[in-house]
Amino acid sequence: MAPSAYSQPLVDSTAIFKPDLFKGKVLFCTGGGSGICRAMTAAMMRHGADAVIVGRKLDRLSQTAKELSEATGRTCVPAQADVRQPHTLKDAVATATDKFGRIDFVICGAAGNFLAPISGVSENAFRTVVEIDTIGTYNTIKATLPHIRASKGSYIHVSATLHYRGTPYQAHVSAAKAGVDALSAVLAVEEGPHGVRSNVISPGPISGTEGMERLSPKGSQTGHFPGTPAGRMGDVEDVANATVFLFSDAAAFITGQVLPVDGGTEHLRTQF
Ligand code: HXC
Repeated sequence: MAPSAYSQPLVDSTAIFKPDLFKGKVLFCTGGGSGICRAMTAAMMRHGADAVIVGRKLDRLSQTAKELSEATGRTCVPAQADVRQPHTLKDAVATATDKFGRIDFVICGAAGNFLAPISGVSENAFRTVVEIDTIGTYNTIKATLPHIRASKGSYIHVSATLHYRGTPYQAHVSAAKAGVDALSAVLAVEEGPHGVRSNVISPGPISGTEGMERLSPKGSQTGHFPGTPAGRMGDVEDVANATVFLFSDAAAFITGQVLPVDGGTEHLRTQF
């Protein structure tokens, strides 16, 4: 990774964590075909995991799976599913267990977003985002939990920081992601005795992602970004590094938590 001029530079997780950290382990990742979840999957594979990536667009999934397999030397398998349809998720889970015989880690990352005011967002539009984000997370948990119990594995849910305050034009996503945070907390306390952990990663402004592009087309480029105390936009690798830590045994006593990866943005109070 190129040296950085920023005070909080990006690092490569393989320089910090053992390359074989997740050898013999299997990741199941919804939304893994692109963006943040693709980077999270790539990082897990760089540390030895095999992966199944799940999404609606088979072409994109297949291309990503090929690229990640070639880049890491591990196996990545695409599985087409819509998280709103439990039977398609069941098939995707079967793809994972048929191929690898186990699932150790789940990333619930499939999400939908667009800007719309609460006065204008249609019932169907609001429901669509809740169905993808919140109910999709519930469906993914239901489909994978027996396997995660068996492996004493771990969940990471990809949420957001939007719902910590009132974010304009984001009522649908704010409601949906608050539900995701709540699901993760309940999962952690109910399943902790079974050896299962569940945590949330809440990305802040991450450059080059579809989510950032949808919310702030002009602000989605990489580079200097005075809006974060860290002085730069986040990178998908920042989220990937947090993923490696939270799935590792170094985080064995961390469950039911929400980890913002936002360069301190949520704590920034501008003068007025
Ligand atoms: C208002 C909209 C809209 C828009 C769609 N709708 N786009 N309303 N403004 N820009 C409405 C439609 O008119 C319709 O309502 C309803 O939403 C469902 O739309 P469909 O296109 O039929 O749904 P579907 O094909 O299932 O697509 C789901 C989607 C879409 C969420 C609408 O945007 C999508 O597939 N997104 C996936 C990719 C994505 O969003 N990635 C970014 C995630 S980022 P009516 O009433 O007309 O029937 C993220 C993190 C956020 O979540 C935090 C970042 C900092």
